[in-house]
Amino acid sequence: MPTALAAPQALLGIEKLSQAQAQIYIEKAFAIKSGRLSSKLPPHPVPNVALIFFEASTRTRFSFEMAARKLGLNTVSFVADATTSVSKGESQHETLNTLIQMHPDMLVVRHSGDAQVAQILKNTSIPVINAGDGKGEHPTQALLDAMTILERLEIKNLSLKDQKIIFVGDVEHSRVARSGRLLFQLLGAEVAICCPSELAPQSQDWQGVKHFTEMAKATAWATVCMGLRLQKERHGQHVSFSQEEYIANYRLDDKNLKNLSKNALIMHPGPFVPGIDLDEKILADSRCVIHQQVENGVLIRMAVIGEIFGLFGA
Ligand code: CP
Repeated sequence: MPTALAAPQALLGIEKLSQAQAQIYIEKAFAIKSGRLSSKLPPHPVPNVALIFFEASTRTRFSFEMAARKLGLNTVSFVADATTSVSKGESQHETLNTLIQMHPDMLVVRHSGDAQVAQILKNTSIPVINAGDGKGEHPTQALLDAMTILERLEIKNLSLKDQKIIFVGDVEHSRVARSGRLLFQLLGAEVAICCPSELAPQSQDWQGVKHFTEMAKATAWATVCMGLRLQKERHGQHVSFSQEEYIANYRLDDKNLKNLSKNALIMHPGPFVPGIDLDEKILADSRCVIHQQVENGVLIRMAVIGEIFGLFGA
């Protein structure tokens, strides 16, 4: 069991997270879920958590809001839509500077990976939780995914040793895969990818990660199979394979998952495009934990926000 650490100040990514702190977040989330842990009343005045989303989101934004409110905190939301001054041409970084001047007590931010936004978030004295930054990181997604694997496989020691986790599809453009790889390896798992070479990550930090191109071999190897959304908005001009090719070879469906063990897990961070990323029939497969991932998202976000505000006591 992890020992207590000094209260964290922020969660910007898994890259800077220790194994002990990751396990504390997951353990706290399990304890909240089972009723073994409840948070203290928040201080007065009640802190305001600012949810600032420059990119679209359903589950991350809603679950952060649910989590903050379950902890008794206030939430204020900014979504960069047509009703805001972003639509008049105001930049993401100036928008963020403007919101910071209103002195929220925590920033939960999703952005496109804008370098100036990242710099502001790195330097502010307000606690920040990264809710997804372009192709960078999505740390709370990785934590909720790890929690779901541990829960569903009934692993009690917060270790993923002996697990073989495969990311399938658009790995290159996925912050979920990047944070997931870092956390799963930190917890002892072996990670691999299954994708066409054009969607394989090129950066140094993926060197040495096993690369399958055939689902039949990848699924025969894996204990956990994590699909990813085809992120066309990040493709630019350089992707030449056809959507039909992608569907035939990498969609989560009965054909492509035929070699996956009956004890394995089928996961997807969502959102998925039905028919392209997965066949919706997979949702009824007993190995599929996609909705459990969403449920655990609220618990993990309660654990992270509560830890940063010191709401669980010493
Ligand atoms: N998994 C995830 O980040 O989903 P949303 O984009 O709906 O928040």
